[in-house]
Amino acid sequence: MAEYADEPELVRRAARAAGRAGFGRSCHPAQGRLLRVLAGGVAGGTIGETGTGFGVGLAWLAAGAGPGTTLTSVEQDPGRHAAAAELFAGVPNVTLRHGDWTDLAAAAPFDLLVLDGGGQGKGAEPPLEPRDWLRPQGCLVVDDFTPMSSWPPKFRGEPDEARLHWLRHPDLLATELRLAPGLATVVARYVTPAPGPARRSSRTPSGLAG
Ligand SMILES: C[S@@+](CC[C@H](N)C(=O)[O-])C[C@H]1O[C@@H](n2cnc3c(N)ncnc32)[C@H](O)[C@@H]1O
Repeated sequence: MAEYADEPELVRRAARAAGRAGFGRSCHPAQGRLLRVLAGGVAGGTIGETGTGFGVGLAWLAAGAGPGTTLTSVEQDPGRHAAAAELFAGVPNVTLRHGDWTDLAAAAPFDLLVLDGGGQGKGAEPPLEPRDWLRPQGCLVVDDFTPMSSWPPKFRGEPDEARLHWLRHPDLLATELRLAPGLATVVARYVTPAPGPARRSSRTPSGLAG
């Protein structure tokens, strides 16, 4: 992976470890920069990540996180987990878990949650439910899509249901960002109704606005 002047040292070290192992699925630098910015918006909160890999994305997150922000990431592969654990050994606000992504639930709720190795609903497994994982107004990032070129977005010629799930989720304000010519990511805010008196239904029995 090419190195750039603004890459934090921990990102470089993680990327080199991934390179030595021949691991090609580390976070793209453009995605990393986005993560760094988003982490900066979490003042004193909690950040979670599924799929640590060698810790490239996590290193970007840690670079952006302010004082008091804690970060937890989970990885199922023992070798990758061990490499990342060694890398982050001296970073006190970072916790690495070895196990299935669902183990990350123990550290929830999150102010920022990055799904990069489980919970995305891309395969046969159902996606996670934002209200079980995020604090109100928390941010969700689902990485690694091909930028959409039409609506609805398609995957292998069919509507991309995994992406549409996030873009249409009733608890999320979500959008797709194109970060590089062939790379897009979905960023969403978990929104909850404002507290206050219960609202009347907007529909009368006749179906007209009340
Ligand atoms: C795209 S890579 C992660 C890259 C990493 N986040 C980065 O920024 O460099 C996906 C990772 O998720 C891990 N993974 C896949 N399924 C998982 C699961 N069920 N639980 C935990 N980790 C999983 C894989 O072993 C792999 O290391």
